Amino acid sequence: MKLGVCYYPEQWPEQMWDDDARRMKSMGISLVRIAEFAWSRIEPAPGQLVWDWLDRAIETLHRHGLQVVMCTPTATPPKWLVDRDPGMLAVDQHGRARAFGSRRHYCFSHRGYRAEAVRISELVAQRYGEHPAVAAWQTDNEYGCHDTIVSYSEAAREGFRAWLERRYGDIGTLNTQWGTVFWSQEYNGFDQIDPPIGTVTEANPAHRLDYRRFASDEVVAFNRLQTDLLRRRSPGRPVSHNFMGFFTEFNHYDVARDLDIATWDSYPLGFTQNFFLAPAEKARWARIGHPDIAAFHHDLYRGMCNGRWWVMEQQPGPVNWAQWNPAPAAGVVRLWSWQAFAHGAEVVSYFRWRQAPFAQEQMHAGLNRCDNTLDIGGEEATQVAREVRELARHVGGQRVVPSTRVALVFDYEAQWMAQITPHGADFNYLELAFEVYSQLRQLGLDVDIVGPHAAVADYALLVLPSQMHVGEQLAQRLRTFAGAIVMGPRTASKTEGFSLADGAAAALLALVAGVRVLQVESLPPGVSDPVHGLPQPACAGRWREWLELNGAVAEARFEDGRCAVARNGLCRYVGAWLDAAGWRAVLAAAATSAGIETVDLPADVRISRLDGLVFAFNFSQREVGWKPAQASLRVLGDETLGPLQMSIWKLSDAVAGH
Ligand code: GAL
Repeated sequence: MKLGVCYYPEQWPEQMWDDDARRMKSMGISLVRIAEFAWSRIEPAPGQLVWDWLDRAIETLHRHGLQVVMCTPTATPPKWLVDRDPGMLAVDQHGRARAFGSRRHYCFSHRGYRAEAVRISELVAQRYGEHPAVAAWQTDNEYGCHDTIVSYSEAAREGFRAWLERRYGDIGTLNTQWGTVFWSQEYNGFDQIDPPIGTVTEANPAHRLDYRRFASDEVVAFNRLQTDLLRRRSPGRPVSHNFMGFFTEFNHYDVARDLDIATWDSYPLGFTQNFFLAPAEKARWARIGHPDIAAFHHDLYRGMCNGRWWVMEQQPGPVNWAQWNPAPAAGVVRLWSWQAFAHGAEVVSYFRWRQAPFAQEQMHAGLNRCDNTLDIGGEEATQVAREVRELARHVGGQRVVPSTRVALVFDYEAQWMAQITPHGADFNYLELAFEVYSQLRQLGLDVDIVGPHAAVADYALLVLPSQMHVGEQLAQRLRTFAGAIVMGPRTASKTEGFSLADGAAAALLALVAGVRVLQVESLPPGVSDPVHGLPQPACAGRWREWLELNGAVAEARFEDGRCAVARNGLCRYVGAWLDAAGWRAVLAAAATSAGIETVDLPADVRISRLDGLVFAFNFSQREVGWKPAQASLRVLGDETLGPLQMSIWKLSDAVAGH
């Protein structure tokens, strides 16, 4: 468990660097991420390389015993480069080139920019790849931030045509897969196909889905150019990228395959304001952050690089970019930091060392204020560093990683499919996956979030919130899965080519879930169908299916007597968008049938088990009592959990071994 910080020496007078490094070290920080936006200082004019300042910045950090996470600066191509080759700019859906003057203005498909990105990254890696202070790398910065994955540039059009030709081989196959006979959309060759924009009404869904797949693959290719050269130039140093929260525009599993460490940027208050929570929830969690938002991403990114993951940017105070930007309640920065460690983070790194008084993020906090006094987030980070040392005294010895028994399948393609054919304005796959995850967490369960290609045989409970397309490999795994399964609405409803599901999917649903879906409907706000038969009263809104039972029994029914939740042995199929109480009841029943014990937690308390430790977090403003049922020793925090406090217990060895 290490702490880090994001630092921008180029934004501060050089006289401050030594004191900055000294204070970082003394507050318990050991890693410093630098240079991801420094291209214009490294290369102010074409070919004119200015390294001396960066050499000295790294030396200063090194001298104080700090390690450096070095970045490639490709998220911010400088003005001279854009002026020299404006074709590198990404193009938006209205055909407008994105302008210079913020960041991420490049198009992933542009070959000239790819070459430039390789050139500058190679130069940075050549200079610092074997520097003793450099402990790890980050490629670029937050692929996709500010809606920058999908581009409609000329380069993207060419790239898409080539991608389609590779995927389909001949145009006849594409025509069949896309169903272009509909409305006379047939093509005679790949060179006739344009990006799916500007059409009179919606473009063909299969065309749109393929464009999303193509755009995602372009990110993978762009990133791989950098990981390849970093491995060559900086052997032995892990390569990472910092992913975002609630961000689904490219397939993160595919990018992560080329990384050693998945990292992500955790801004719980910004995410609470900017995403789908209801207004009352946004208000309730304004200064704390919804307890499951960070956790969802911790569990998602933990799975991407075999368990190696960090928080690369931890919110330290108010941000500047959300609709509203409240300040974290006292103690919450500490709570978030510990929550990340409780989910297995190797590093929690704060964004940023000091608030800069100029430019776009002048209203965004840092660990230090602009006047260089330690801000509240800085004080809490110092406390975390102290507590990490304290915990280390109690938990030496062998690493005992208890295996998580619950897996939730999260699929980027399912998100794209739901976005392209939501069928109801509020059918949001990401929101559903989050809601299901949150209910599992409220039942006291540890969860692994896994991709649709993950091996799942060792789990006891497998949850698929709405797996629109079930590929052959996953289908095979579902057919032979020994534990309990919960499938949400629309599971197996589409083919890979994005048509309505064929016989194979129907056969899978019949075999595993024992149901046939006769009809689906989306429900406008205000229409909600009560669901009877679950331990608590529940309702369905937004989405409902009409199920025919082919071997399954009805565990819950709508008022009209039709089945809402079907059970076939250990598999449950939920034919509706259930409310929280409904999901909670279904998931609890599934866990019990899988032999997994749920935990009766006080409201707003979450627990995590890791390495024989049990962490309990109180996200409420009142004192609550909770401790593990098993024999355990409290190693941090109090016996009762004060408002926004946490405690850690160590299970006695006999128990931890299980
Ligand atoms: C992240 C980004 C940082 C900074 C931060 C502000 O999205 O990676 O560079 O902008 O947000 O919260």
